[in-house]
Amino acid sequence: MSGLFNVSKKFFSSWKPNLPKHKIVFNTTQYHQAHAIWNLKDAENVQQTHLKPKGFSDRAANLYCVLFRYFFDFVSGYKHGKMTESLYLRRFIFLETIAGVPGMVGGMVRHLNSLRNLRHDGGWIHHLVEEAENERMHLLTFLRIREPGIFMRLSIVGTQFIFVLWYSIFYSFFPKTSHRFVGYLEEQAVLTYTMAIKDLDEGRLEKWANLQAPSDAIKYWGLGKEAKFRDMLLSIRADEANHREYNHHFADIPGDEPLDGHKIFISTDFVGEANNKWEDEEVKVQVKVEAKEEENKTKTN
Ligand SMILES: [Fe+2]
Ligand SMILES: [Fe+2]
Repeated sequence: MSGLFNVSKKFFSSWKPNLPKHKIVFNTTQYHQAHAIWNLKDAENVQQTHLKPKGFSDRAANLYCVLFRYFFDFVSGYKHGKMTESLYLRRFIFLETIAGVPGMVGGMVRHLNSLRNLRHDGGWIHHLVEEAENERMHLLTFLRIREPGIFMRLSIVGTQFIFVLWYSIFYSFFPKTSHRFVGYLEEQAVLTYTMAIKDLDEGRLEKWANLQAPSDAIKYWGLGKEAKFRDMLLSIRADEANHREYNHHFADIPGDEPLDGHKIFISTDFVGEANNKWEDEEVKVQVKVEAKEEENKTKTN
């Protein structure tokens, strides 16, 4: 089992995020960064929280989030209580193309700050870039199920152009408010996925009732071979809760606080399923390496 996952060290402050049981894994057969995989039983109970705004910066972040929510609702055609599978997918895809921006922009701005100011960043860059990759994985797995049409594609291009410009400037000058804003956006993402799971459980999304999770999702979140689309939704919602917790926390702590040297937060009682395929692939890689070493030895002798 030890070779199955390389559990990487992620460092955190003494603060403990409100998250389901999970492991931070690094799959050596994929290029993805180390990321969380979730205990699905525990992920059923992801809590929907709302951080009460305190002070002007928080209220501004909350207001931006409310404006964004209205904009998302309009573009993605969100109608509370009247959502179909296709409307949900339209919303998820649009939402995720935006959600992947803040982590990458935040990481880039902090990277440039580090270069310009000739000092360490303290581990934030890595975390933010991983968040961006995680959001992009959400998008890519949904694209396995639905191909967006031309109107959606144009909306994505236009929104990205404006959002990247705005967020880059905003993050450069107001990083704390930016993290708070993302924290609030992620609260909304948790809400959206919670509504979808509820609609699915209550029989309003029949097409998803027995839908299998795409193979990419099974690999990325370490799901069982028979995992359903619902398991993927649970994992994604837990990811969103993760982003919510961290971005609110990043808004609370000093921007130069190093993330290393603190307590490592990895839940030790993880009991999720691991995908055996990883093990098989890893064994194959290992055999290859050993064969190569053997070959080199013979050559040297
Ligand atoms: Fe997401
Ligand atoms: Fe997110």
